[in-house]
Amino acid sequence: MMRIIEKVTEMQKLMDSLKCRGKTIGLVPTMGALHEGHLYLVKYAVRESEVVVVSIFVNPLQFGQDEDYKKYPRTLNNDSSLCEKEKVDVLFCPSVQELYPVKPLTYIDMMGLTDKLCGKSRAGHFRGVCTVVGKLFNIIKPHNAYFGQKDYQQFIVIKQMVDDLNFNVKLKMCPIVREKDGLALSSRNRYLSPAERKQALCLKEALDKAKYLIRNRKEKKASNVINEMKKVIERQPFSRIDYIEVCDSETLEKITLIKGKALVALAVFIGKTRLIDNDVIS
Ligand code: PAJ
Repeated sequence: MMRIIEKVTEMQKLMDSLKCRGKTIGLVPTMGALHEGHLYLVKYAVRESEVVVVSIFVNPLQFGQDEDYKKYPRTLNNDSSLCEKEKVDVLFCPSVQELYPVKPLTYIDMMGLTDKLCGKSRAGHFRGVCTVVGKLFNIIKPHNAYFGQKDYQQFIVIKQMVDDLNFNVKLKMCPIVREKDGLALSSRNRYLSPAERKQALCLKEALDKAKYLIRNRKEKKASNVINEMKKVIERQPFSRIDYIEVCDSETLEKITLIKGKALVALAVFIGKTRLIDNDVIS
């Protein structure tokens, strides 16, 4: 039977007792509205860790003023049955009041890495992500924590935080899960109208174009790759590019000349919905 826990102290007690009994604990942090991408992380965790915790918390701290915090999908009943089917042991779903009983005065803020890519257009986003993930690590104290490549920068940022602050947790990155036609799964895909859903494919098409240019045409200039990707996106009337970048896959610094491995990442609005995708191409 899966346990559903809403209280921080109850969670801490349970985790401490499981740890004392020598169990390895795996955590999959999510904001719910679970889809196959999330479930892939869960499956991975179930294979590796003896006790699997999924957290569901729509974290107000990581949403900007004009972003979709209010309308973010909340589907706890369905999420809970999906977790149960996947043999999750504990579902941790605290309320906002429970996790932030008073307005916090302490945040986890990072320099450098968080001003790039998504950080540029989402000021304060990674501060919110780091703060909540830091809190979850302190409450649950997992041995392993699972994140998706879908949010590549998020993984790099959390890895930096774990190293800088000595969180005792191993991070695992799982590949991007996609729809049959290539669209990366996202809780936000449900905002798309049928016409937008078709146009949303352009993110993956642009990444495929980049891969073709880099691998088959031996293109070395990042600017040429970016220009060709732009053309693919701009063919879609509902699209508006937030960014397209070619970066170092560890430092996330922009690169001009591609040699070896490169992260190609993009964020595009399709109508009002902001979608992201990426590929590490070598
Ligand atoms: P959320 O967007 O719910 O994503 C939870 C985890 O699922 C993240 O690690 C994300 O990268 C992964 N994920 C989402 N879509 C995926 C896909 N198509 N393929 C593979 N993995 C996918 O990311 C967050 O929540 C939050 O920022 C959080 C870390 C929970 C902090 O609030």
